[in-house]
Amino acid sequence: MSNKMWGGRFETGPDAIMEEINASIGFDYRLARQDIQGSKAHVAMLAKTGIVTEEDAAAIAAGLDQVLGEIESGSFTFSRALEDIHMNVESRLAALIGPTAGRLHTARSRNDQVALDMRLWVRDAVDALDVQLRDLQRALAAKAKTFAGTVMPGFTHLQSAQPVTLGHHLLAYVEMLGRDRGRLHDARVRLNECPLGAAALAGTSFPIDRHMTAEALGFDRPTANSLDSVADRDFSLEVLSAASICAVHLSRFAEEIVLWATVQFGFAKLSDKFSTGSSIMPQKRNPDAAELVRGKTGRIIGALNGLLIVMKGLPLTYSKDMQEDKEGLFDAVHSLSLCIAAMTGMVNDLQPDVERLKKAAGAGYATATDLADWLVRSLKMPFREAHHVTGAIVKLASTKNVGLEELGLAEMQGVEPRITQEVFGVLGVDKSVQSRVSYGGTAPRNVMAQADRWLERLQQE
Ligand code: ARG
Repeated sequence: MSNKMWGGRFETGPDAIMEEINASIGFDYRLARQDIQGSKAHVAMLAKTGIVTEEDAAAIAAGLDQVLGEIESGSFTFSRALEDIHMNVESRLAALIGPTAGRLHTARSRNDQVALDMRLWVRDAVDALDVQLRDLQRALAAKAKTFAGTVMPGFTHLQSAQPVTLGHHLLAYVEMLGRDRGRLHDARVRLNECPLGAAALAGTSFPIDRHMTAEALGFDRPTANSLDSVADRDFSLEVLSAASICAVHLSRFAEEIVLWATVQFGFAKLSDKFSTGSSIMPQKRNPDAAELVRGKTGRIIGALNGLLIVMKGLPLTYSKDMQEDKEGLFDAVHSLSLCIAAMTGMVNDLQPDVERLKKAAGAGYATATDLADWLVRSLKMPFREAHHVTGAIVKLASTKNVGLEELGLAEMQGVEPRITQEVFGVLGVDKSVQSRVSYGGTAPRNVMAQADRWLERLQQE
């Protein structure tokens, strides 16, 4: 039997493989709510403009509500022969209200319908991710406030560089997530135009009111070019790009948590809730949640790459290739949402080892820059020369296998005779971080102020 919706000129139905490769219902059933929301706005507009009667529109709207109820309660039977969510919904509507159902698709095509559904879905996804990211920022800022004065090693090249505070480190992620939210927000602003009414590709001869449907669906305006409306998926690409960047941020933090939780670093303990044991090695506590956040980043970036590749060779306008825009996107959004939730839990439960962090902060001559800065300030030495002198002092300490503060004054004076007792005031890690008061620097009072600023801002959202 040929397809009820489009099989007029066909004599036979599709080959079994054709049905399998063609069907999207296995994944686009997720668009059911958006599809019905769009159809209701469309039929209300068809009635308002006199394209269908008020009675028909009322019957269609009531039928659509019933279909949605069946889908949400799980009693709906999806059919692969009906290809996709659009035809599954319409077919069920016809079963419920009869031939009147056929009027719904006036002045519309599945091309503008699916473009609309996707925009609505992506918009909902962006809004949900934004709330989750805000909650993660709150968790990080609260931790940052608690540990505003906790010194830890700051790294470059994963080598001890300069002491920083843990609060400062956590607030770095709050900043990154703030930009991630900004990117999602920007994408949302650009996607918020309604493609409904572009029809198959050229627009329609019916006297539709595209402003009415755009407004009813919460869009800022209708899209201005019918070809563009059905042909592009840049809104999904933008959100996938923003999601990928965000996932990269979470992945880097996850990697740090993995390192911090090792016996070798010992910087922090992950709670039992976010660790697992080993079936063979009884001593193990594995940071699986952090590893999975790191790992899932691969599929999120993969979804972005996948869709870029699907789109890159398509002539205008719609091609069936574009049906491949969905699974990767759905999976990426779901994965990112899981990652944010897991990260929020891990941040809330993270127990830093303050003593160990402090000890590690001083290791590796991390206050060498403070010594060089002291030489510049107190002896008016040019920085390059101070750098050189400090290098010689570090070399001496390292030969003797002691920390900078453990060298005697006489030993330092052996390198630079003008050094005085005062130098010991800058060699400790606490002094070091306290001195970094430049705007954006790691001094505890800066960190406290930044944490408060964020907490207040996030509270008001
Ligand atoms: N399932 C299709 C998709 O997701 C809907 C649009 C079909 N359009 C068409 N001209 N066959 O892309």
